[in-house]
Amino acid sequence: MTQLNLDAYWLPFTSNRAFKKDPRIIVAGEGRYFTDDRGRKVFDSLSGLWTCGLGHARAEIAEAIGQQARELDYAPAFNVAHPKAFQLAERLTTFMPEGLNRVFFTCSGSDAVDSAMKIARAYWRKQGLANKTRFIGRVKGYHGVNFGGISVGGIVGNRLLYGQGVEADHLPHTMTAENKFSRGQPEQGAHLADELLNLITLHDASTIAAVIVEPMAGSAGVIPPPQGYLQRLREICTAHNILLIFDEVITGLGRLGANTGAAAFGVVPDMLTLAKQITNGCQPMGAVVAKESIYQCFMDKSGAEHMIELPHGYTYSAHPIACAAGLAVLDILEREQMPERVKAIAPLFEKALHSLQGSSPYIVDIRNCGLAGGISLQAKDGDAVIRPYQVALKCWEKGFYVRHGGDVVQLGLPFTVEASEIDAVINAIGEAIAELN
Ligand SMILES: Cc1ncc(COP(=O)(O)O)c(C=O)c1O
Repeated sequence: MTQLNLDAYWLPFTSNRAFKKDPRIIVAGEGRYFTDDRGRKVFDSLSGLWTCGLGHARAEIAEAIGQQARELDYAPAFNVAHPKAFQLAERLTTFMPEGLNRVFFTCSGSDAVDSAMKIARAYWRKQGLANKTRFIGRVKGYHGVNFGGISVGGIVGNRLLYGQGVEADHLPHTMTAENKFSRGQPEQGAHLADELLNLITLHDASTIAAVIVEPMAGSAGVIPPPQGYLQRLREICTAHNILLIFDEVITGLGRLGANTGAAAFGVVPDMLTLAKQITNGCQPMGAVVAKESIYQCFMDKSGAEHMIELPHGYTYSAHPIACAAGLAVLDILEREQMPERVKAIAPLFEKALHSLQGSSPYIVDIRNCGLAGGISLQAKDGDAVIRPYQVALKCWEKGFYVRHGGDVVQLGLPFTVEASEIDAVINAIGEAIAELN
């Protein structure tokens, strides 16, 4: 790594100045471990970036990617198509809740979110309800980085620098004082969904296109929904003719011990977004999965048959290599019963994670859901992010890649994690927190 290399690369979501003084460089990955440029094995406790639940360098996926690159490296996505796009779309629908069976491919989670938002607005416009343009997101929500996503997102740091976005309002988050240290879904807080009624009173349902939430907020630090909360959102949306979108970029395809967050929590949205695990992180890809009635509305209300029903898409939509990777991933998810495995080992993770409660005065909350966990740390002299940042650096030195995001240390363990690895990473985090001053 030369100084010139270091200077040229502008890292995303990274403190570049600090990083370049002490870079953490990953040169290889296999199973649940990275190798860094010092030759050390580093346990990947975030499955990449919530992406690689199946572990790194899975031979079947690598083989599918190589084979596809040799056979058909690229096919245009507009007006022609390749077989694996159809195959993957159909396979995906078998993992989706009943009725969500139309798949629109994108290149990332951010694209999936913005695509879903555009589909929602267009859907109402096609029905003559062009005033339904507003979106309702949630405080602490993360929906990627495009303008739609940051408008409905509720993490202030991701919005602050960018000015005017898409018209949106926000539900309150559900991290209440009484829910601190809840294991899994908190018992209280379903009433917070009723805040949607206040927003409907304020804006009127005739101006609201959709509500978008992560079933379990991930990036803000793993915030599982209170029991009954998503059900209540569903009821209100249905009653007021508002679409409900679940952003399942983290929760989709196994992380919560079910095929989707929708299935884990028993609530069916009108659309959901996927990315990350769809290719096990091996290829950039996202998707919007919509109810058939939404797709059908576009088919029925777009004029002559040669007219394009949805003028939207990407050069890399349904990229053949991503589709090949996706098919290999779904094979493994199914064959190795990954969601079931996550469900089976999640209680062990919950127990180990919550064993940190009381071990340090800096730990102010712990939350978990499936194989996702968050540990909130107390701010230091008004700086909310410094302690999680220091914990992540210390863990890296101890041989564990652990995520810091805002005031939270975050875990998204690989679906294949072993009990001994859960203990090891929790011990490392506990030690790192104990070393803080
Ligand atoms: C819920 C959610 N939505 C959207 C995104 C954005 O995905 P991408 O980074 O692939 O654009 C993320 C990424 O973490 C996410 O967690």
